[in-house]
This record gives sequence, structure tokens and C-alpha cells, in this order.
Amino acid sequence: MSSQTVLITGCSSGFGLETAQYFLNQGWHVIATMRTPRPDLLPRSERLRVLPLDVTDPASIQRCLDEAGPIDALVNNAGVGLLAPVEGIAPDNLRTLFDTNTLGTIAMTQAFLPQFRERRAGVIVNVTSSVTLRPLPLLAVYTASKAAVNAFTECLALELAPFDVRVRIVLPGRSPETRFGDNARVLMGDTVPEPYVAFRDQVFAAVRDTTTPVTHASDVAEAVWRAVTDPAAPMRIPAGADAVAIAGG
Ligand SMILES: NC(=O)c1ccc[n+]([C@@H]2O[C@H](COP(=O)([O-])OP(=O)(O)OC[C@H]3O[C@@H](n4cnc5c(N)ncnc54)[C@H](OP(=O)(O)O)[C@@H]3O)[C@@H](O)[C@H]2O)c1
Repeated sequence: MSSQTVLITGCSSGFGLETAQYFLNQGWHVIATMRTPRPDLLPRSERLRVLPLDVTDPASIQRCLDEAGPIDALVNNAGVGLLAPVEGIAPDNLRTLFDTNTLGTIAMTQAFLPQFRERRAGVIVNVTSSVTLRPLPLLAVYTASKAAVNAFTECLALELAPFDVRVRIVLPGRSPETRFGDNARVLMGDTVPEPYVAFRDQVFAAVRDTTTPVTHASDVAEAVWRAVTDPAAPMRIPAGADAVAIAGG
């Protein structure tokens, strides 16, 4: 049984929930954070704590840091999607996307980093996306928010190596089984500029294609586990058959 503790963001569904379950199964202590805590989503365990956390809210991050106590691994998984032509994206939704995916990840890293540096131990895993590995239409803003995290993570790794703190990126492929699509629709709005409608419909049809390989939440949980526990794991770890193929593996 491990006495190690992982803190994971965005555990109310999808990859975060599956990853929390995976680490519990491996005997770790898990701090599963959610905007709206739902302890019933995971099995009862004395090794599980569910804490409230909104990664876009500095006060919420500070409360989470205070309540969590020392941790050994931070998994920045919380994120939102947006599949829409750039012209039609409302400025507020653009900000929400970057506040969550990019600035939220950086803010969580800044909050938990000092304890890792002081102890000269710890791992930070940032969940981005395989879309950052090739350009795709209607994903300019989402891809930009995640590509920024890739760049941030790779620079940070160099900065933290002298303190024996490891930093890794997990890049999942497309996963229709999570709530990602439904949550993305909230930011996408109901309409797109008229000239894009036909093209948007074509892209949506391709996204809904069920004949191509996809990523399962279990692929992501396994990749995060590897990133946290295997010091020899590469910087970028694709998760899911489609992501592995895109990454050229
Ligand atoms: N599914 C895919 O196709 C796919 C592919 C590649 C990468 N990803 C990435 O993988 C990660 C997990 O996505 P998923 O597929 O598991 O989607 P999901 O089921 O929608 O889960 C996303 C999680 O993020 C949380 N979240 C959103 N905004 C937050 C905030 N401000 N503060 C804290 N938590 C917040 C959501 O919580 P609420 O319930 O409170 O909204 C939810 O728990 C995301 O970073 C996503 O960008 C997903």
C-alpha cells in the first residue's frame, strides 16, 4: 500500500474521475477535486478525499492548497473544449477557455510547486490533447490553449530538473465517452456565422465518426499513472490508439 498522495483536477467526470479511481485501485491516497464535490461518484475509501476546486478562481485554489496538505503528484486535468469557427466565438467564451485550460493549469502549478521544490521531489502532469500534434479546423482556439500548456510544461521541466521535480504531458486522443462534447457545447453557443454552416456540419460529421479508433478514459488513467510513477517516461505521452497513431508511435 502506497503512502503517496495525488491531487487531480476535474474529477466530476471523464478522464479525471477514471484517473482518481485508478490511483485508488493502486493503493494511493487520492484528493479528487471537483467544482461541485460529489463524493458519491467514487467508492468510499479512507484514502479518498473530495475537495472543491475551481481552477479559474484564485481563492478556490488557495483554499484547496490549504486543505490538501502535502501531496506527491499534481494532475492538471480540468479542461473545456470548443469546436467552432474563430469568427463566431464570443469573447467571454474565449476567456473562459484560456482561463480554464491554460491559466488554470499555470495557477495550480504555481500554487503546489513550492512544496515540491522544497522537498526536492514531486511530479506535475498536465493533460493537453493530441490535437496539438496536427492542425485541425474549428479547433484553433482550443488547440492554442493546449499547445500553450505543452510549451509551458516543456520549459518548466528544464526549470525544475535541478530540484528533482518531474513534469510530464499526457496527450489524449478523441474520446466520445466523456462529458467533454456536452461541456464544449456550452461554450460553442447555438449558432455559427452563416458562411461556415456547411463546413461546420462536415467537420461535426467527421468528429462523430464511430469507425475510427478513439481514446478511452482508461487509456488516459494508465498514461497519467505512467507519467507519475515512471521516471523514465517520455516528456509527451500520447494516450489512446488514435493519439498514439498521430504521435507516430
Ligand atoms: N474527451 C476528449 O475528446 C479529450 C481529448 C483530448 C483531451 N481532452 C482533455 O482531457 C481533459 C478531461 O476532459 P474529459 O474528456 O474528461 O471531459 P469532461 O468529462 O468534460 O471532464 C472535464 C472536467 O473538467 C472540469 N472542469 C471544467 N472547468 C473547470 C474549472 N473551472 N475548474 C475545475 N474543474 C473544471 C469539469 O468539471 P464540471 O463537472 O464542474 O464541469 C470536469 O470534471 C480536459 O483537459 C480536456 O481538454 C479531452
